[in-house]
Amino acid sequence: MSEQGKTPSASMTTVTKLMMPMDASVSGNVFGGTILKLIDEVGSIAAVRHARKNIVTASVDQMNFLAPVHVGDLLRVIASVNYVHKTSMEIGVRVEAEDPLTGKIRHTGTCYLTCVALDKYGRPTPVPTLIPDTEQDKRHWAEAEVRRDHRLQHLGKK
Ligand SMILES: CC(C)(COP(=O)(O)OP(=O)(O)OC[C@H]1O[C@@H](n2cnc3c(N)ncnc32)[C@H](O)[C@@H]1OP(=O)(O)O)[C@@H](O)C(=O)NCCC(=O)NCCS
Repeated sequence: MSEQGKTPSASMTTVTKLMMPMDASVSGNVFGGTILKLIDEVGSIAAVRHARKNIVTASVDQMNFLAPVHVGDLLRVIASVNYVHKTSMEIGVRVEAEDPLTGKIRHTGTCYLTCVALDKYGRPTPVPTLIPDTEQDKRHWAEAEVRRDHRLQHLGKK
């Protein structure tokens, strides 16, 4: 039996990390892989907080790097559950870079993960329903539903 429904805010997760030289190329631009790893980690935390079960990342939608992130920037990754179906959840992840000296924040990318909850045998298992609370939650739900359709069509599962 799955838990009662939860709002997106119940699992919202934010992680901020100072970008160091080891996160970047010699030019000082942070590697895309550094950002993708953090997206997967933070998105997975939001998914586990919603499901309270083990989860795997089933897919990562296209990621566009909108602006460079530099060594010394604070990379902020914000993840929340946009949509749930039976065993899967779409997690929206927003990536921002903050200049710690000026406080100026740049939106550097947005990415959508699909995570699937697993039971103790490693099989997909139901997740709690999502209760879109605010107008923004409702918009995220509707947009995620469209993306799910496209994803499943692309996979030949619809
Ligand atoms: C994700 C995984 C468990 C799905 O297994 P499966 O046998 O395809 O399971 P099902 O067909 O029953 O699908 C289960 C759910 O996953 C969704 N799903 C499966 N593959 C998907 C994909 N590539 N993208 C998005 N959703 C997917 C299905 O739509 C379904 O959702 P629903 O129950 O909410 O309707 C399996 O493909 C897997 O283990 N993949 C490897 C995951 C991994 O190792 N990730 C990296 C490390 S975390």
